[in-house]
Amino acid sequence: MESKRKILMDCDPGVDDAVALCLAAAHPEAFAFLGITTVAGNQTIEKVTENALRLSGFLGLNVPVAMGARTPLLRAPLTASEVHGKNGLGNVELPASAQTAREHAVLFLRDALCGLPAGEQATLVPTGPLTNIALMLRVFPEVRERIAQIVLMGGAACGGNITATAEFNIYEDPEAAAIVFDSGLPVVMCGLDATAKCGLDRAAADALAGGTGKVSRAVGGMLQFYLNAGAYRGRPMASIHDASTFMYLLHPEIYSGCRTTVRVDCSEGFNRGMTVCDLRGREPAAEPSVTVLLDADGAKFQEYLLDAVRTLDERL
Ligand code: RIB
Ligand code: CA
Repeated sequence: MESKRKILMDCDPGVDDAVALCLAAAHPEAFAFLGITTVAGNQTIEKVTENALRLSGFLGLNVPVAMGARTPLLRAPLTASEVHGKNGLGNVELPASAQTAREHAVLFLRDALCGLPAGEQATLVPTGPLTNIALMLRVFPEVRERIAQIVLMGGAACGGNITATAEFNIYEDPEAAAIVFDSGLPVVMCGLDATAKCGLDRAAADALAGGTGKVSRAVGGMLQFYLNAGAYRGRPMASIHDASTFMYLLHPEIYSGCRTTVRVDCSEGFNRGMTVCDLRGREPAAEPSVTVLLDADGAKFQEYLLDAVRTLDERL
């Protein structure tokens, strides 16, 4: 039996961040959470931190939560209320948490990584803008040797969602993303090419919302909002982008991609936040450190995700 991966999740919950946490929480045999850190993105730092606290308790994780960056490194913050609702969780109210958030996420991440026993590493799972991760790498470069992998949701080899050529997490803080992609650390980019194919359709969302389990009802309610929001209104399926991070760690076989270089457009132009992935297939000068996911088996994703929600309904 492979040993558990030590996990540090940096997120901006966010409906799909919440569903990603559900997936991870259903698999304690695979993941040992060291903590959850938050970054402003889908909602303000206060709201996403409150959501992370509530999710940690609701899902039985009960791990430390640390509040992080209030704004991107240089840019003005954007939120996505039209997609994730005023409270960030599709206006689903989870029970209040007894925990309070620590500060600051960057210090928490450094302490968690540098506090690991000698020779041990952790996997970073960022599912929001990369501000905290970039700050940590710049201020505390000694953490590099404690990072096994960075499995992030962000970017796209082709297309975008916040603009025609950029994905929200990267667009929000392109400079932070450039620091992470240029770091030379092993990064798995779960970009829109794969994550857009991974979600639940309206029938599945309605079935969950009408379910008897508390996790089914919460996830279903969030996804119903997601499906009725601007981004997905009228579309057959809601992409649960962030869940592909943990799904890749659990079932890499349902994804395909390639190792390549990724450069981030940090301009003010049309392509701000574009992740330029070199797919020309040329012999690279040096072994690229980024694996870009380019495709996914959406049917398998749905099957494994629904299994995870059922598991949590039975357990909690
Ligand atoms: O583009 C999708 C990403 O932006 C997801 O992480 C979603 O939660 C939002 O943060
Ligand atoms: Ca997110």
